[in-house]
This record gives sequence, structure tokens and C-alpha cells, in this order.
Amino acid sequence: MDKFTWYGHAAIGLETGGYKLLIDPFFTGNPAASTSADKIEADFILISHGHGDHVGDALEIAKRTNATIISNHEIVTWIAAQGWEKVHGQHLGGGFQHPFGYLKLTLALHGSQLPDGSYGGNPCGFLLTTNEGRKIYLAQDTGLFGDMQLIGAEGLELAAIPIGDNYTMGPTDGLRAVKMLQPKRVTPIHYNTFDLLKQDAAAWAKTVEAQTKTKAMILKPGESFTF
Ligand code: NI
Ligand code: MN
Repeated sequence: MDKFTWYGHAAIGLETGGYKLLIDPFFTGNPAASTSADKIEADFILISHGHGDHVGDALEIAKRTNATIISNHEIVTWIAAQGWEKVHGQHLGGGFQHPFGYLKLTLALHGSQLPDGSYGGNPCGFLLTTNEGRKIYLAQDTGLFGDMQLIGAEGLELAAIPIGDNYTMGPTDGLRAVKMLQPKRVTPIHYNTFDLLKQDAAAWAKTVEAQTKTKAMILKPGESFTF
């Protein structure tokens, strides 16, 4: 049994095998955040790309919780230069067996500049194979890409995909992504944070369930489900 929590925007909590993973921990300055950076617990923090709404409070949370930060090589090098050296760098297409499971960085079509203007390498998504062998895909910020079919071929228990449009896929491409990924469950992220990202997730869920076999899980920030 694994537990997924949406904290608003692209901030996700994932509990698996007794480990707490925190993904793209944007709390400070996030109008949709359900909690604050000083209250969150984490064993591992995953950062998908360099933008401020994804690096977020990672450094502060890592220092308080002693979490390991996992991201691409460029971002973990930057994190280490900010004074936190408990990091693990990977890169696109590369997987590593962490205590919580086998984590592979996947392609993402997006940017990755860090908040101070530093180069953030290529953006990524995450494909986790838990120690029980269950596959979870967290797309984070990306446009639609055809290789989602390859990710879907792995057999996904859950996919989290953006539907906010403007900076990432919107609802229409989100539906096309579900058709390629064919996950058992999908949950939308990166929407309703700001007016620019306003979407009707309930309507999207209805369309997904009418056109695919995937169950759409619509959460309010702070809500969780187990699967
Ligand atoms: Ni971004
Ligand atoms: Mn973003």
C-alpha cells in the first residue's frame, strides 16, 4: 500500500515502504499550498527542474529533516553549493536503486533555469518502481510527448500529470497523455494555483473516465489517497 498526497501545485507527498518522499516542495509563496514548509516531514526530496515553483523550500526542508535531495546533476550541484551536500544526482533515462525503490528520471519537455539564473540542466519527470514492484509516474512540468507510450508500457498503478495549460499540458493534451500512459489511476497537478492555471478538474475527470479505463482521482490541496 502506498499513499499519495497533493499539497497544491506540483507539490506531492508519496509514502512507500515506510519512506516519506516529497516532490517539488513549493510551499512558501504558493497560494494553493495546504501546509507550510516548517511542518512537512521528508526522508527524500525530489526536484524535477530548476524553476522556483519546484525547487521551492527544498533546501530549508532538507536542512530541518535531514532529507536527501535527488535531482539532475546540475541541480544537485547547485544545491550542494547552497550548503546542503546530502544529495544524489541522476540524469534522464538513468535509474538508481534507492532505499524506497528504483527511481528513473524521465524526459520532460520544459525549461529548468534555477531561481538565481543558474543553468538547471534538463527538466525531468520521475518513474518510481516501489520495492513491491508497483510503478508510479510523476510527470511534473511537461508538454505532451509521444514517448509517454514507452512509460505507459511499463504498466502504471498511478500517473500524476499536469493539466494547468500555459506552462505545461492542458486538459486536452492531458487526456491524450492518459490514453498513452494507460495508468490504473491518474491525478491532475499543476492547475488552479493561480488564475492563469484555472481548470475544471471535475469535468476533466468525467471525460477521462468516459474515454479511458483509467480512474481519475481529483484531490483538494492537502488531500490524500492510498492505493
Ligand atoms: Ni516549471
Ligand atoms: Mn511549474
